[in-house]
Amino acid sequence: MKRNKYIIGNWKMNGDKSSIKVVNTINKSLQRKRYNSKIVICPPFTVLDFYSRSLKRSKISFGSQDCHHEESGAYTGCVSSKMIKDIGAKYSIIGHSERRQYQNESISEISNKIISALKENLKVIFCIGEQDSEIKVRTKILRKQINSLPAKIDTNKIILAYEPVWAIGTGKTPSLGDINSIHQNIRKIISKKFNPKIGKGISILYGGSVNPKNASDILNLDNVDGALVGGASLKARDFCKIIDSYN
Ligand code: 13P
Repeated sequence: MKRNKYIIGNWKMNGDKSSIKVVNTINKSLQRKRYNSKIVICPPFTVLDFYSRSLKRSKISFGSQDCHHEESGAYTGCVSSKMIKDIGAKYSIIGHSERRQYQNESISEISNKIISALKENLKVIFCIGEQDSEIKVRTKILRKQINSLPAKIDTNKIILAYEPVWAIGTGKTPSLGDINSIHQNIRKIISKKFNPKIGKGISILYGGSVNPKNASDILNLDNVDGALVGGASLKARDFCKIIDSYN
């Protein structure tokens, strides 16, 4: 089964309007070459509107780094999926470990966010991942996190991103064998929860210290369907190299 491939940049709390240089360079380089993945950038809310509109006809799609599950209301500081959809963004990252950790996002809150994003027809980049832990504990954590997904899912609308917390921003990554087998295990969990067709068809991205040096090895693993890139997505050259290394 052919699965969609993605290279997604998560800018986190970085980037402003002047980062358009980065985006334009990436866009130009995409026009000159053949690549076989969908390219998405998730900048902060303050510039999401600017990028979604300025690069409407570009090869790059844009997404948010979070969303609120209610359409509108007394939720100071929050931005709803509907608002994200209205400005032309196509994707939303949900359940990133930094939000689970610093904003105390719970499994049920994440579940509500996923439902609201899907209702607005946003594609969900659903992040899962464990702190450093042994296999049994890891499987339990991943299974619990996966329970945030609604009872029925469409593999064109949900993208999973496996990001081991200890690999984020540290320069450390699991071994290639571990990444492949964990992704395979995630597929098994998904197959069991939904059905084998969904398990085989869902795109599972790897995230955590992906850089131009390790990208080719990671991206070309059987069970990896792309990357969710943090730090390296803020540098046009690095991000382009990561895209180039995906055959
Ligand atoms: P780094 O690529 O900086 O490790 O960040 C990964 C990440 O958290 C992407 O969502």
